[in-house]
Amino acid sequence: LSTDEVSRRLLAWYDRHARVLPWRVPPGQGRADPYRVWLSEVMLQQTTVAAVKAYFERFTALWPNVKAMAEADDADVMAEWAGLGYYARARNLLACARAVVAQGGFPTDRAGLRELPGIGAYTSAAIAAIAHDAPETVVDGNVERVVARLFAVDTPLPRAKPELIALAETLTPALRPGDYAQAMMDLGATICTPRSPACGICPLLDLCAARAQGIAADLPRKLAKKPK
Ligand code: ADE
Repeated sequence: LSTDEVSRRLLAWYDRHARVLPWRVPPGQGRADPYRVWLSEVMLQQTTVAAVKAYFERFTALWPNVKAMAEADDADVMAEWAGLGYYARARNLLACARAVVAQGGFPTDRAGLRELPGIGAYTSAAIAAIAHDAPETVVDGNVERVVARLFAVDTPLPRAKPELIALAETLTPALRPGDYAQAMMDLGATICTPRSPACGICPLLDLCAARAQGIAADLPRKLAKKPK
């Protein structure tokens, strides 16, 4: 598999089909504000894109930058978060905003981001790639699925995770890693979907090992859940 060919095709596809999202800067129009990337990615950790949109608009209207959020009343932020669930995320949001302001702004590298409250492996890579165009590999559930299919990885999740991350890393391009990361997530969300993937319109169709074997919809495999 030509890894350059994968990123080249995905970026060309993204240039035409990127989803329009309130926290996103369209391809070719510059980098996104780290504050907006951070806020959206924390909201998206356990909540769908459709549900996050209105919350993101409301939060950024009330608190347009990290300094404003750092100075917010805890109760106001918790009240606006109501409905998103997983309230530890809202408490971490405030702790993170205050830590960022105390250190004079968002770190630009993944390791520095990772030390902040509520920011783990996924969110640190997403902010570094999308806001700073750093060549970090962003792996969420969408990306795991795309990679498992592209390489026909038969190992079940969660055991397959390290293997999928390693394979995903081989695909990340040096040029436009931020757009590439968002392209992978959009492909997983709109074409390489969990059920009934739209392989017929996929830009990676002829490169996909699972498609060649006729097993795209069966991957990634998942360990059967233990009965409770
Ligand atoms: N899901 C989570 N973060 C995303 C992003 N930045 N673009 C598309 N889908 C996402």
